[in-house]
Amino acid sequence: MSYPFQITSYGQYKEAYKKSVEQPEQFWSDIAEQFLWRKKWDKVLEWDFKKPDVKWFINGKLNITENCLDRHLDTRGQVPALIWEPNGKEEPHKVITYKELHFKVNQFAQVLKNNGVKKGDRVCLYMGMVPELPIAMLACARIGAIHSVIFGGFSAQSISDRLQDAQAEYIITGDGAYRGGKDIPLKNTIDDALVTCPFVKRVIVYVRTQSPISMIGHRDVWWTDEIKKVEAQGNPLVDAEEMDAEDPLFILYTSGSTGKPKGVVHSSAGYMVYTTYSFVNVFQYQPGDVHFCTADIGWITGHTYIVYSVLCAGGTSLMYEGLPAWPDAGRMWDIVDKHKVNILYTAPTAIRSLMAYGLAPLEGKDLSSLKVLGTVGEPINEEAWHWYDEHIGKKRCPIVDTWWQTETGATMISNLAGVTPSKPSYATLPLPGIQPVLVDEQGKEITGNDVSGNLCIRFPWPSIIRTTYGDHERCRLNYFATYDNMYFTGDGCYRDEQGFYRITGRVDDVLNVSGHRIGTAEVENAINMHTGVLESAVVGYPHDLKGQGIYAYVIMDAMPDNKQLAQADITQTVARIIGPIARPDKIQFVTGLPKTRSGKIMRRILRKIAEGELANLGDTSTLLDPGVVNEIKEGRV
Ligand code: WT7
Repeated sequence: MSYPFQITSYGQYKEAYKKSVEQPEQFWSDIAEQFLWRKKWDKVLEWDFKKPDVKWFINGKLNITENCLDRHLDTRGQVPALIWEPNGKEEPHKVITYKELHFKVNQFAQVLKNNGVKKGDRVCLYMGMVPELPIAMLACARIGAIHSVIFGGFSAQSISDRLQDAQAEYIITGDGAYRGGKDIPLKNTIDDALVTCPFVKRVIVYVRTQSPISMIGHRDVWWTDEIKKVEAQGNPLVDAEEMDAEDPLFILYTSGSTGKPKGVVHSSAGYMVYTTYSFVNVFQYQPGDVHFCTADIGWITGHTYIVYSVLCAGGTSLMYEGLPAWPDAGRMWDIVDKHKVNILYTAPTAIRSLMAYGLAPLEGKDLSSLKVLGTVGEPINEEAWHWYDEHIGKKRCPIVDTWWQTETGATMISNLAGVTPSKPSYATLPLPGIQPVLVDEQGKEITGNDVSGNLCIRFPWPSIIRTTYGDHERCRLNYFATYDNMYFTGDGCYRDEQGFYRITGRVDDVLNVSGHRIGTAEVENAINMHTGVLESAVVGYPHDLKGQGIYAYVIMDAMPDNKQLAQADITQTVARIIGPIARPDKIQFVTGLPKTRSGKIMRRILRKIAEGELANLGDTSTLLDPGVVNEIKEGRV
């Protein structure tokens, strides 16, 4: 396996970039040629950001699982495709070769068919980090069903919302999942969600934790029983469904500035081509390298850099079930040594939390297999960058700071490991094909260097979001209506003297807590459901470990006698409605909120107070009741 599109020098990067801008169709068709197609495309690209309508590799036919699996069987059948490291240290790890993975995916694809799943059906996967999760994803893709993976930390209410939005009739889950010291009750949560989703026809349950669960007749079946039926059928190979380039591959829900998460839809071909291109170039993947991405597959990072891109490249993907600091803060380094990990891709929040343990957990760890380090999910502070560089990479591993989003499918701005320059806390330069633009509030482009603005992308790339499931207008309004003819990322950005990009964080009402995206409106909606709450306003504030913490200002119908208990109750409500990741870090009870005469909450003021910047709150003269600001300042928690 070699990668003809792998860039190996800075000069080559500049050349590729230039070509990608000047002749984008030629550029991407050359790369797409390296994949396995049932039928090649007639035309490379058609696009109109106004609608938006973006199509890549028009009339091309393929199945991504033939690229992830079948294509490698002859040459790489015995190569590990997945290495799975369990939560506990005592349990043995698993290695699944390409040949074995191909077999298991076929088997489960047949399970899906036996249960009535057809092309285009939506299948919800609510599972822990077990190999059966990528197996189920690939099995869906094999038969053309659209998977929607829901992170195992989401609540029954969140699952129900997503199932209804996608009209998903099939669910694959586990009895439970291990995560650090906890057993997550997956099936019980699904049962709660299904009370409001009577359209669900089938729930397939994989046993991991052997927790007692209820199995509803005519609806719930066991994974292993279904596999046995396929064995009895003689384990037939399932013909991969021939998919159109633009057929949806999956839906993944993510938070926006409204209260309701949106189902980001990715395509089959464009997603495959761009994610693989980015993987091979950003990480400078070499055949045989062990790639360890610590993300959960419930997020886009796991979809792209644990499953699809790595397998398309014939690589070896290490996934683990646990948490970075469990059972001890040396866990990740033990995994690196045990499996001779070459590429480690993690989040700033994980680096900061491991930093907090000091250097003792690193004693006796070798880490010499590491070649490349990566970070993703939030801006990385310089201190964490240097710690990662010195203590993990021992100053000999390039660090790639990869900026991207659920909507972009794969990395958009990043250095290429050891090939293009890096700079601490900078994502640096766009990948070939990506045309970043900085704009001011009016939408006017800000040119030149040493400037800041809102980050937009001018031209489509193959793995751009195609729609938000069931509501195309929402996709337009969210991403393509703020600025004319551009995709708006929602991020603020600085371009330095050399033209390097540094992402400064969201400019919309979206929070980034430990690399997880949460809408302030979502948290407010959840808080407002708590009895006695009249109104709330949620903002982010800098948090040493999480990057951002959640600060909630809450008006109750009467000031609670026991504030601590009331805070705990509200926290519990948010965990119930959304999930534990959205729990506010701080709750302040107030009697009013700073509002303009037209009734708009002035979040700027609330943010400053939450940040502790009490001296300079800016102009408060337009407030309906300027007095409320003093009260809030004094009651700061
Ligand atoms: C938001 C997207 C990309 C997969 C994980 C998160 C922030 C992401 C970086 C980075 C600074 C970053 C942005 C972006 N973000 N990577 N390297 N530097 N900020 O995906 O949940 O869709 O969140 O994460 O604010 O908009 P997501």
